[in-house]
Amino acid sequence: MRAICPGSFDPVTHGHLDIIERASHMFDEVVVAVGRNSAKNYLFTPDERAAMLADATTGWPNVRVEMLDGLLVDFCRDRGIDVIVKGLRFASDFEFELQMAQMNFALSGIETIMLPTAARWAHLSSTMIREVAKLGGDVSQFVTPDVAARIQAKVARSEGGAA
Ligand code: PNS
Repeated sequence: MRAICPGSFDPVTHGHLDIIERASHMFDEVVVAVGRNSAKNYLFTPDERAAMLADATTGWPNVRVEMLDGLLVDFCRDRGIDVIVKGLRFASDFEFELQMAQMNFALSGIETIMLPTAARWAHLSSTMIREVAKLGGDVSQFVTPDVAARIQAKVARSEGGAA
């Protein structure tokens, strides 16, 4: 079976990677789809977010990264993807994810599986990591070394007024 882990990944965190790795053990193939949530302002471009994911998932041969444009259910239908996998940290995640799962099911019949985030990463969010980094905090324990370096570079550039 083929699964998809869709998200914004701005940037990918150890919490995302935990879900992707567990999905890679459960399914034959996992597509990590870098999507666009119209409600969000992004720090990294879609290409940058995909490059960070590709770097972080190189060790998992049945995982590949793709860009997601348009509706998730259309993307899944075009690629023969059977299941959407999402991570759940706390109750408020569930409320939103349930709504999206029901909408995606109504549109296409595709199922969504929700995996509880590993307890050690439950407090992580990309939003919080961006905020901490912008204010000069050290985020290296929450992301891969590649991502930490890219955040550092991005923040330094914006402090210089170039981003
Ligand atoms: O990490 P995020 O921001 O929660 O990811 C949200 C994402 C990109 C998975 C979601 O917005 C999405 O599926 N976008 C694709 C467009 C779509 O199908 N929207 C309707 C979802 S019910």
